Amino acid sequence: MNTDQVGINSLSTIRLVVAAPDFQAGLSFFTDELGFAVAMIAPAEDPNVAVLTLEGLTVSLDKHSESAPVTLEIPTDESELLGTSKEGPNGTKVSYVTFARESDKMTKPSPTLAIAEQSDAHWVTGRAGMAYRSLIDHPNSGFTASHIRIEGSGEVPDWVHFHDVGFQIIYCFRGSAKLVYEGQGEPFIFNEGDCVLQPPHIRHRVLESFNDLEVIEFSSPSNHATYADPVMDLPNELLTPDRDFSGQRFTLSRQAESHWNNHKDSNSFITRRTSISESSGNVGWVNIIEATGTHQNGVDVSPLNSEATPDFLLWFILEGSGVITHRDKTINLGPTDAVVCPYGYNNETEFSLSECQIGFRVLEIGLNSG
Ligand SMILES: [Fe+2]
Repeated sequence: MNTDQVGINSLSTIRLVVAAPDFQAGLSFFTDELGFAVAMIAPAEDPNVAVLTLEGLTVSLDKHSESAPVTLEIPTDESELLGTSKEGPNGTKVSYVTFARESDKMTKPSPTLAIAEQSDAHWVTGRAGMAYRSLIDHPNSGFTASHIRIEGSGEVPDWVHFHDVGFQIIYCFRGSAKLVYEGQGEPFIFNEGDCVLQPPHIRHRVLESFNDLEVIEFSSPSNHATYADPVMDLPNELLTPDRDFSGQRFTLSRQAESHWNNHKDSNSFITRRTSISESSGNVGWVNIIEATGTHQNGVDVSPLNSEATPDFLLWFILEGSGVITHRDKTINLGPTDAVVCPYGYNNETEFSLSECQIGFRVLEIGLNSG
Protein backbone atom coordinates (compact mmCIF):
# COMPACT_ATOMS: atom_id res chain seq x y z
CA MET A 1 0.00 0.00 0.00
CA ASN A 2 1.52 3.37 -0.96
CA THR A 3 1.23 6.61 0.93
CA ASP A 4 -1.59 7.89 -1.24
CA GLN A 5 -3.67 4.82 -0.44
CA VAL A 6 -3.00 5.21 3.28
CA GLY A 7 -4.15 8.81 3.03
CA ILE A 8 -7.30 8.05 1.07
CA ASN A 9 -8.25 5.07 3.26
CA SER A 10 -7.88 7.19 6.39
CA LEU A 11 -10.32 9.71 5.01
CA SER A 12 -13.15 7.18 5.13
CA THR A 13 -12.68 6.22 8.80
CA ILE A 14 -14.39 7.81 11.80
CA ARG A 15 -12.39 10.77 13.12
CA LEU A 16 -11.77 12.29 16.50
CA VAL A 17 -11.98 16.08 16.25
CA VAL A 18 -9.15 17.84 18.07
CA ALA A 19 -9.08 21.60 18.42
CA ALA A 20 -5.84 23.34 17.48
CA PRO A 21 -6.10 27.13 17.88
CA ASP A 22 -2.36 27.30 17.24
CA PHE A 23 -2.55 25.07 14.20
CA GLN A 24 1.16 24.69 13.43
CA ALA A 25 2.05 23.90 17.04
CA GLY A 26 -0.77 21.32 17.19
CA LEU A 27 0.30 19.78 13.90
CA SER A 28 3.91 19.54 14.99
CA PHE A 29 2.89 17.87 18.29
CA PHE A 30 0.89 15.16 16.51
CA THR A 31 3.33 14.52 13.66
CA ASP A 32 6.80 15.14 15.15
CA GLU A 33 6.20 14.08 18.75
CA LEU A 34 3.54 11.39 18.44
CA GLY A 35 4.36 10.08 14.95
CA PHE A 36 1.01 10.66 13.22
CA ALA A 37 1.05 10.67 9.40
CA VAL A 38 -0.71 13.42 7.47
CA ALA A 39 -3.49 11.97 5.31
CA MET A 40 -4.85 15.33 4.17
CA ILE A 41 -4.14 18.98 4.89
CA ALA A 42 -5.86 22.14 3.63
CA PRO A 43 -5.57 24.75 2.44
CA ALA A 44 -1.99 24.25 1.29
CA GLU A 45 -0.89 27.87 1.70
CA ASP A 46 -2.13 28.39 5.27
CA PRO A 47 -3.58 25.15 6.63
CA ASN A 48 -6.30 25.17 9.27
CA VAL A 49 -7.48 21.57 9.03
CA ALA A 50 -5.63 18.26 8.72
CA VAL A 51 -6.56 14.60 8.88
CA LEU A 52 -3.88 12.65 10.73
CA THR A 53 -3.55 8.94 11.29
CA LEU A 54 -1.64 6.59 13.59
CA GLU A 55 -2.24 2.90 14.37
CA GLY A 56 -5.89 2.90 13.36
CA LEU A 57 -6.75 6.23 15.01
CA THR A 58 -7.73 9.10 12.74
CA VAL A 59 -7.68 12.63 14.09
CA SER A 60 -9.21 15.67 12.47
CA LEU A 61 -7.07 18.57 13.64
CA ASP A 62 -9.10 21.73 13.30
CA LYS A 63 -8.00 25.31 13.97
CA HIS A 64 -11.56 26.58 14.33
CA SER A 65 -13.02 23.74 16.40
CA GLU A 66 -14.15 24.56 19.92
CA SER A 67 -14.17 20.96 21.14
CA ALA A 68 -12.72 20.25 24.59
CA PRO A 69 -9.18 18.82 24.91
CA VAL A 70 -8.93 15.05 24.62
CA THR A 71 -6.84 12.34 26.29
CA LEU A 72 -5.15 9.69 24.18
CA GLU A 73 -3.93 6.40 25.62
CA ILE A 74 -1.01 4.88 23.74
CA PRO A 75 -0.29 1.22 24.60
CA THR A 76 3.41 0.49 24.89
CA ASP A 77 5.80 -2.09 26.30
CA GLU A 78 8.74 0.34 26.45
CA SER A 79 9.59 0.62 30.12
CA GLU A 80 10.90 4.19 29.84
CA LEU A 81 7.58 5.37 28.38
CA LEU A 82 5.17 3.24 30.41
CA GLY A 83 3.29 5.26 33.02
CA THR A 84 4.46 8.61 31.63
CA SER A 85 2.27 11.28 30.08
CA LYS A 86 2.68 14.49 28.13
CA GLU A 87 0.52 17.41 27.12
CA GLY A 88 0.25 19.07 23.72
CA PRO A 89 -0.03 22.79 23.00
CA ASN A 90 -3.82 22.68 22.81
CA GLY A 91 -4.33 20.67 26.00
CA THR A 92 -4.26 17.23 24.35
CA LYS A 93 -3.10 14.75 27.01
CA VAL A 94 -1.21 11.60 26.08
CA SER A 95 -0.76 8.68 28.52
CA TYR A 96 1.43 5.67 27.84
CA VAL A 97 -0.25 2.57 29.27
CA THR A 98 0.13 -1.22 29.29
CA PHE A 99 -1.55 -3.19 26.49
CA ALA A 100 -4.14 -4.64 28.87
CA ARG A 101 -4.52 -1.27 30.62
CA GLU A 102 -4.49 -2.78 34.08
CA SER A 103 -5.78 -0.64 36.89
CA ASP A 104 -3.29 0.49 39.46
CA LYS A 105 -2.14 -2.43 41.51
CA MET A 106 -3.42 -2.14 45.05
CA THR A 107 -1.87 -3.77 48.05
CA LYS A 108 -3.93 -6.78 48.90
CA PRO A 109 -5.64 -6.86 52.27
CA SER A 110 -4.88 -9.67 54.71
CA PRO A 111 -6.24 -13.12 53.93
CA THR A 112 -9.82 -13.49 54.95
CA LEU A 113 -12.51 -16.14 54.76
CA ALA A 114 -15.86 -15.05 53.37
CA ILE A 115 -19.17 -16.81 52.86
CA ALA A 116 -21.30 -16.09 49.80
CA GLU A 117 -24.73 -17.27 50.85
CA GLN A 118 -27.45 -18.17 48.41
CA SER A 119 -29.93 -16.19 50.55
CA ASP A 120 -27.92 -13.00 49.96
CA ALA A 121 -27.49 -13.59 46.23
CA HIS A 122 -27.74 -10.45 44.14
CA TRP A 123 -28.27 -11.17 40.45
CA VAL A 124 -27.43 -8.67 37.70
CA THR A 125 -27.89 -8.93 33.96
CA GLY A 126 -24.62 -9.10 32.05
CA ARG A 127 -23.36 -9.83 28.55
CA ALA A 128 -25.41 -11.91 26.09
CA GLY A 129 -28.50 -12.07 28.31
CA MET A 130 -26.83 -13.96 31.15
CA ALA A 131 -27.60 -13.31 34.82
CA TYR A 132 -24.56 -12.99 37.08
CA ARG A 133 -24.15 -13.49 40.81
CA SER A 134 -20.74 -12.53 42.11
CA LEU A 135 -19.23 -14.95 44.62
CA ILE A 136 -16.52 -12.47 45.64
CA ASP A 137 -17.70 -9.37 47.42
CA HIS A 138 -14.22 -8.09 48.20
CA PRO A 139 -12.48 -5.16 46.51
CA ASN A 140 -9.07 -5.55 44.91
CA SER A 141 -8.96 -9.30 45.19
CA GLY A 142 -7.97 -9.36 41.53
CA PHE A 143 -10.24 -12.34 40.78
CA THR A 144 -13.75 -12.86 39.51
CA ALA A 145 -15.87 -15.85 40.50
CA SER A 146 -19.44 -15.81 39.28
CA HIS A 147 -22.48 -18.02 39.37
CA ILE A 148 -24.06 -17.44 35.95
CA ARG A 149 -27.43 -18.62 34.68
CA ILE A 150 -29.56 -18.51 31.57
CA GLU A 151 -33.18 -19.45 32.06
CA GLY A 152 -34.99 -21.90 29.81
CA SER A 153 -33.51 -23.26 26.60
CA GLY A 154 -32.62 -21.65 23.30
CA GLU A 155 -30.08 -19.82 21.22
CA VAL A 156 -27.68 -17.52 23.05
CA PRO A 157 -27.04 -14.14 21.40
CA ASP A 158 -23.28 -14.53 21.74
CA TRP A 159 -20.61 -13.69 19.17
CA VAL A 160 -17.05 -14.94 18.61
CA HIS A 161 -14.94 -13.39 21.35
CA PHE A 162 -11.93 -13.91 23.57
CA HIS A 163 -10.75 -12.84 27.00
CA ASP A 164 -7.46 -11.26 27.99
CA VAL A 165 -7.01 -13.52 31.00
CA GLY A 166 -4.26 -15.37 32.83
CA PHE A 167 -6.49 -18.22 34.00
CA GLN A 168 -10.15 -18.88 33.32
CA ILE A 169 -12.38 -21.89 33.86
CA ILE A 170 -16.07 -22.66 33.47
CA TYR A 171 -17.83 -25.44 35.36
CA CYS A 172 -21.29 -26.62 34.31
CA PHE A 173 -23.39 -26.78 37.46
CA ARG A 174 -26.87 -27.41 36.05
CA GLY A 175 -28.43 -27.70 32.61
CA SER A 176 -26.24 -27.84 29.53
CA ALA A 177 -24.96 -25.68 26.68
CA LYS A 178 -23.64 -25.97 23.17
CA LEU A 179 -20.20 -24.37 22.95
CA VAL A 180 -17.57 -24.00 20.24
CA TYR A 181 -13.88 -23.23 20.67
CA GLU A 182 -11.28 -22.21 18.10
CA GLY A 183 -9.25 -25.19 16.84
CA GLN A 184 -11.27 -27.75 18.82
CA GLY A 185 -13.55 -29.02 16.07
CA GLU A 186 -17.32 -29.20 16.01
CA PRO A 187 -19.49 -27.59 18.69
CA PHE A 188 -20.01 -29.85 21.69
CA ILE A 189 -22.52 -30.21 24.50
CA PHE A 190 -21.20 -28.99 27.83
CA ASN A 191 -22.98 -31.14 30.39
CA GLU A 192 -23.52 -30.97 34.11
CA GLY A 193 -20.23 -31.64 35.91
CA ASP A 194 -18.06 -30.80 32.89
CA CYS A 195 -15.32 -28.22 33.21
CA VAL A 196 -13.47 -26.24 30.55
CA LEU A 197 -10.16 -24.42 30.72
CA GLN A 198 -10.36 -21.38 28.46
CA PRO A 199 -6.71 -20.59 27.79
CA PRO A 200 -5.79 -16.92 27.26
CA HIS A 201 -7.16 -15.47 24.00
CA ILE A 202 -8.85 -18.63 22.68
CA ARG A 203 -11.77 -17.60 20.47
CA HIS A 204 -15.08 -19.11 21.47
CA ARG A 205 -18.81 -18.72 21.40
CA VAL A 206 -21.83 -19.98 23.33
CA LEU A 207 -24.33 -21.18 20.75
CA GLU A 208 -27.24 -22.53 22.79
CA SER A 209 -28.21 -23.20 26.38
CA PHE A 210 -30.60 -25.85 27.68
CA ASN A 211 -32.67 -26.55 30.79
CA ASP A 212 -31.87 -23.48 32.89
CA LEU A 213 -28.12 -23.49 32.42
CA GLU A 214 -26.06 -22.58 35.48
CA VAL A 215 -22.27 -22.34 35.39
CA ILE A 216 -19.52 -21.24 37.72
CA GLU A 217 -16.87 -19.11 36.06
CA PHE A 218 -13.57 -18.13 37.60
CA SER A 219 -11.21 -15.59 35.98
CA SER A 220 -7.90 -14.03 36.84
CA PRO A 221 -7.32 -11.15 36.66
CA SER A 222 -10.72 -9.66 37.41
CA ASN A 223 -10.27 -6.53 35.32
CA HIS A 224 -9.60 -8.44 32.10
CA ALA A 225 -11.03 -7.22 28.83
CA THR A 226 -13.31 -9.21 26.51
CA TYR A 227 -12.78 -8.63 22.80
CA ALA A 228 -15.02 -9.46 19.86
CA ASP A 229 -13.34 -11.15 16.90
CA PRO A 230 -15.40 -10.10 13.89
CA VAL A 231 -12.98 -11.85 11.51
CA MET A 232 -13.23 -15.44 12.77
CA ASP A 233 -16.30 -17.58 12.14
CA LEU A 234 -16.99 -20.42 14.55
CA PRO A 235 -17.30 -23.29 13.97
CA ASN A 236 -14.70 -23.52 11.21
CA GLU A 237 -12.53 -26.20 9.63
CA LEU A 238 -9.27 -25.48 11.45
CA LEU A 239 -8.13 -28.13 13.92
CA THR A 240 -5.37 -27.24 16.38
CA PRO A 241 -6.31 -29.18 19.52
CA ASP A 242 -2.84 -29.02 21.09
CA ARG A 243 -2.17 -25.37 20.39
CA ASP A 244 -0.25 -23.55 23.08
CA PHE A 245 -1.90 -20.37 24.36
CA SER A 246 0.66 -18.63 26.59
CA GLY A 247 1.70 -21.95 28.08
CA GLN A 248 -1.85 -23.32 28.39
CA ARG A 249 -3.98 -25.70 26.33
CA PHE A 250 -7.73 -25.98 25.95
CA THR A 251 -9.17 -28.86 27.92
CA LEU A 252 -12.66 -30.22 28.43
CA SER A 253 -12.83 -32.36 31.56
CA ARG A 254 -15.91 -34.57 31.24
CA GLN A 255 -17.59 -35.71 34.41
CA ALA A 256 -18.69 -38.90 32.65
CA GLU A 257 -15.08 -39.80 31.81
CA SER A 258 -13.55 -38.89 35.16
CA HIS A 259 -11.73 -41.01 37.69
CA TRP A 260 -12.43 -40.58 41.37
CA ASN A 261 -9.85 -41.31 44.06
CA ASN A 262 -9.88 -41.20 47.82
CA HIS A 263 -9.59 -37.67 49.15
CA LYS A 264 -6.16 -37.56 50.74
CA ASP A 265 -6.13 -40.51 53.17
CA SER A 266 -9.86 -40.50 53.77
CA ASN A 267 -12.00 -43.55 53.08
CA SER A 268 -15.20 -41.56 53.22
CA PHE A 269 -14.49 -38.79 50.72
CA ILE A 270 -13.57 -39.09 47.09
CA THR A 271 -12.02 -36.50 44.82
CA ARG A 272 -12.14 -35.97 41.12
CA ARG A 273 -9.12 -34.06 39.91
CA THR A 274 -9.99 -32.44 36.60
CA SER A 275 -7.48 -31.94 33.78
CA ILE A 276 -7.44 -28.18 34.44
CA SER A 277 -4.25 -28.19 36.49
CA GLU A 278 -2.20 -30.06 33.92
CA SER A 279 -3.54 -28.13 30.92
CA SER A 280 -3.01 -24.76 32.59
CA GLY A 281 0.65 -25.52 33.31
CA ASN A 282 -0.30 -25.75 37.00
CA VAL A 283 -1.49 -22.13 37.11
CA GLY A 284 -4.67 -23.23 38.86
CA TRP A 285 -6.80 -26.27 39.59
CA VAL A 286 -10.37 -27.52 39.80
CA ASN A 287 -11.39 -30.51 41.91
CA ILE A 288 -14.68 -31.98 42.97
CA ILE A 289 -14.88 -33.50 46.44
CA GLU A 290 -17.75 -35.77 47.45
CA ALA A 291 -18.78 -37.44 50.70
CA THR A 292 -19.48 -41.14 50.32
CA GLY A 293 -20.68 -41.65 53.90
CA THR A 294 -22.36 -39.77 56.74
CA HIS A 295 -19.94 -37.69 58.73
CA GLN A 296 -20.28 -36.17 62.13
CA ASN A 297 -17.87 -34.97 64.75
CA GLY A 298 -14.29 -34.71 63.82
CA VAL A 299 -14.44 -35.09 60.07
CA ASP A 300 -11.44 -33.19 58.85
CA VAL A 301 -11.68 -32.52 55.19
CA SER A 302 -9.75 -29.45 54.22
CA PRO A 303 -8.87 -28.10 50.78
CA LEU A 304 -6.76 -30.45 48.77
CA ASN A 305 -3.70 -28.29 48.26
CA SER A 306 -3.55 -26.89 51.74
CA GLU A 307 0.19 -27.55 52.03
CA ALA A 308 0.72 -24.77 49.51
CA THR A 309 -0.48 -21.22 50.00
CA PRO A 310 -2.62 -20.54 46.96
CA ASP A 311 -3.47 -16.97 45.96
CA PHE A 312 -7.15 -17.83 45.80
CA LEU A 313 -9.42 -20.61 46.97
CA LEU A 314 -13.13 -21.23 46.56
CA TRP A 315 -15.50 -23.98 47.67
CA PHE A 316 -18.87 -23.89 45.95
CA ILE A 317 -21.42 -26.30 47.38
CA LEU A 318 -22.89 -28.31 44.52
CA GLU A 319 -25.05 -30.70 46.51
CA GLY A 320 -26.09 -31.51 50.08
CA SER A 321 -25.38 -29.62 53.24
CA GLY A 322 -22.48 -29.51 55.62
CA VAL A 323 -20.78 -27.56 58.36
CA ILE A 324 -17.34 -26.04 58.11
CA THR A 325 -15.20 -24.96 61.00
CA HIS A 326 -13.02 -21.90 60.80
CA ARG A 327 -11.15 -21.07 64.00
CA ASP A 328 -13.85 -21.23 66.68
CA LYS A 329 -16.71 -20.63 64.30
CA THR A 330 -18.97 -23.19 62.67
CA ILE A 331 -20.77 -22.26 59.48
CA ASN A 332 -23.69 -24.16 57.94
CA LEU A 333 -23.58 -24.47 54.19
CA GLY A 334 -26.10 -25.64 51.61
CA PRO A 335 -26.33 -25.88 47.83
CA THR A 336 -24.98 -22.81 45.96
CA ASP A 337 -23.42 -21.35 49.11
CA ALA A 338 -19.71 -20.68 48.71
CA VAL A 339 -16.67 -20.30 50.91
CA VAL A 340 -14.17 -17.86 49.44
CA CYS A 341 -10.63 -16.92 50.37
CA PRO A 342 -10.20 -13.97 48.01
CA TYR A 343 -6.82 -12.87 49.35
CA GLY A 344 -5.20 -16.28 49.57
CA TYR A 345 -5.54 -19.44 51.60
CA ASN A 346 -3.18 -19.79 54.54
CA ASN A 347 -3.13 -20.22 58.34
CA GLU A 348 -5.49 -17.28 58.76
CA THR A 349 -8.16 -18.67 56.49
CA GLU A 350 -7.72 -22.36 57.15
CA PHE A 351 -11.01 -24.22 57.40
CA SER A 352 -12.23 -27.77 57.38
CA LEU A 353 -15.46 -29.63 56.90
CA SER A 354 -16.67 -30.90 60.24
CA GLU A 355 -20.05 -32.41 59.40
CA CYS A 356 -21.92 -33.37 56.25
CA GLN A 357 -24.48 -35.63 54.61
CA ILE A 358 -23.86 -38.46 52.18
CA GLY A 359 -23.62 -36.99 48.71
CA PHE A 360 -22.33 -33.63 49.93
CA ARG A 361 -20.41 -32.37 46.94
CA VAL A 362 -18.08 -29.39 46.61
CA LEU A 363 -16.47 -27.67 43.65
CA GLU A 364 -12.98 -26.51 44.62
CA ILE A 365 -11.23 -23.86 42.54
CA GLY A 366 -7.73 -22.73 43.38
CA LEU A 367 -5.09 -20.48 41.91
CA ASN A 368 -1.48 -21.21 42.68
CA SER A 369 0.72 -18.36 43.82
CA GLY A 370 3.14 -16.76 41.43
FE1 LIG B 1 -16.32 -16.09 26.92
